[in-house]
Amino acid sequence: MVDHLLGIEGLSKTEIHRYLDAAHSFVEVSERDIKKVPTLRGKTIIHVFFEPSTRTLSSFDIAGKRLSADTINISASSSSVKKGETLLDTVRTLESMNPDVLVIRHSESGAAHFAARNLTRSSVVNAGDGAHEHPTQALLDLLTLRQHFASSKRPIEGLRIGFVGDVRHSRVARSNIWAHIALGNEVRLIGPPTLVPMDFARAFNSPLVNVVHDLREGLRDLDVVVCLRMQLERQSEHFVPNLDEYSKEFCVSERLLREFAPSSVVLHPGPMNRGTEISGEVADGPRSLIHRQVNNGVAVRMAVLYLLARTLDPREEGSER
Ligand code: NCD
Repeated sequence: MVDHLLGIEGLSKTEIHRYLDAAHSFVEVSERDIKKVPTLRGKTIIHVFFEPSTRTLSSFDIAGKRLSADTINISASSSSVKKGETLLDTVRTLESMNPDVLVIRHSESGAAHFAARNLTRSSVVNAGDGAHEHPTQALLDLLTLRQHFASSKRPIEGLRIGFVGDVRHSRVARSNIWAHIALGNEVRLIGPPTLVPMDFARAFNSPLVNVVHDLREGLRDLDVVVCLRMQLERQSEHFVPNLDEYSKEFCVSERLLREFAPSSVVLHPGPMNRGTEISGEVADGPRSLIHRQVNNGVAVRMAVLYLLARTLDPREEGSER
């Protein structure tokens, strides 16, 4: 059976921790002098990115290489997509070369699911589909929180977490929200009504998810603050009067954190717009876990590739999803 990672929605707490446990065991590989293990030798991974990426693509590529897989990267600007080829034809062509895993980023929600439905032999990993899901980003955020809170012996269950900014267009927020619901955490979505509509929260159908339109009130007593970039490329209309006005009301500053969420830590999936959604002082300050997130991106992607592409012992097969 070919397995995929298309989203966090529907994963149980146990399944989430299974990814995190595997990632935890891969963190150490990247700290070695020789950062390579033979685990996926002979496996082929194709990254096909129809949207720009710095962190996600480079960390998937590094992850595959550290596992000794052969990896190739295809970007929309250099592929036949430019010549009018459809997504279906592109992924079917790539599957004909027998890759074990196709890692896909696409601007359309559901693109990775569509690919998975139409492929028979390759596993598909969703590296971001429109404003829908970005599961490996949510997993690396969780790994970062698990490491941070382990130092004070706190589990990642029972946290109060807030997402600030353009929640409406954020696949990072969506994947994280599903994860925090599965973990039983209180989730606050903070931003102007245009970017954090009530319907958005209702779609999760969970009493754990609440909307707050005032930054100060939203930040109150949070353990974790996730700052989100304004996704201008997904905004078909004006959702805020202008970025200056927006940042006056919603930029997360150290002054506000000290007053309303003094013991909080801060995440940002990147790329950051300093001074718009996060101040430079917060991004570079002691509560920022942003570099840890990037660092953990490699271990999480190693874990996902490993769990999907390893050759299963036939006796293990039955116990897999
Ligand atoms: C995010 C994405 O692409 O969804 N970035 C990332 O993967 N690190 C968030 C963003 O683009 O703002």
